[in-house]
Amino acid sequence: MKILITGGRGMLGQDVTSQLTGEFEVISLNREQCDICRFDHISALITREKPDWLINCAAYTNVETAESEFDQARRVNVMAVENLARICHENSIKLIHISTDYVFDGQKDTPYREQDIPDPISAYGQSKYEGEKKIQAVSDRAFILRAGWLYAARGTNFVQKVMSSIDKGQDMSVVDDQIGSPTYVRDLARIIRELIKKNPEDFGIYHANNTGSLSWYDFACAIQEKFKTNVIKIQRIKTEDYRTKARRPKYSVMDNTKLSRLLGVPLRGWNEAFQECVAEIKRLQRR
Ligand SMILES: NC(=O)c1ccc[n+]([C@@H]2O[C@H](COP(=O)([O-])OP(=O)(O)OC[C@H]3O[C@@H](n4cnc5c(N)ncnc54)[C@H](OP(=O)(O)O)[C@@H]3O)[C@@H](O)[C@H]2O)c1
Repeated sequence: MKILITGGRGMLGQDVTSQLTGEFEVISLNREQCDICRFDHISALITREKPDWLINCAAYTNVETAESEFDQARRVNVMAVENLARICHENSIKLIHISTDYVFDGQKDTPYREQDIPDPISAYGQSKYEGEKKIQAVSDRAFILRAGWLYAARGTNFVQKVMSSIDKGQDMSVVDDQIGSPTYVRDLARIIRELIKKNPEDFGIYHANNTGSLSWYDFACAIQEKFKTNVIKIQRIKTEDYRTKARRPKYSVMDNTKLSRLLGVPLRGWNEAFQECVAEIKRLQRR
């Protein structure tokens, strides 16, 4: 089975690449090797390689700059994604695409289900939602996995940001009124591997987050609890006291029951997944 991965250098792309390599024939390409906005190039590449699956880990992901660079965010998250989906459809290639909890407006107080209607409140969320709709318009052989707050043992993400503040002994202010589901990127990569192995025909949108929820503030405290090189003061603040260009949903917890049923296993809790990430960070630190 041949699998083509775009965005292979990103946080998720790297983990998906390492989860699949060895078990499948994997071609993982970074932006320089495969810019998904270069339509002619991508079309030639896909028709030449003829993968069984394409996993699109490429995206415009900067929630803040998307507000002022909406055209660029749309070029990557909407137009290029539509093009990928069309080429996959025309060549009978199954597509796995990643979307986000930020397609929701955050007005609910119970976990979002797949049938809830998105209403994004940021340019990034808008571009990702438009991308979902384009895929569904041109392809009926695509899985769209909406991820929660992704983090990894390395790279730029919230866990690393808190660890960096702890290392420097710098106090932090963190919002306590945005609630979501931290999702270990390795768990998402495993979900993708299981999906490919199981090869179901029930295409569509699935919520792919670790189970459980908490605020960014509580997540920061949980990280500090594990890394006590310095004890910093983490001050809880409200969203209105933390100026950002982009608005973020107050509540973006998603119900992952549909995906658990598809895979035949429950998706594990964020806390258990986080323990594994902590162990991995400590292993990397010892090297
Ligand atoms: N991070 C989160 O908290 C989060 C939450 C929910 C959903 N998601 C979704 O999860 C997916 C993976 O995100 P991530 O966290 O792994 O993001 P990431 O680390 O920013 O990775 C995205 C990758 O896409 C590449 N890319 C950007 N434009 C491209 C283009 N035109 N052609 C080819 N590659 C391009 C980037 O290349 P460079 O390395 O050159 O910049 C980067 O390697 C995305 O669809 C994102 O929307 C992320």
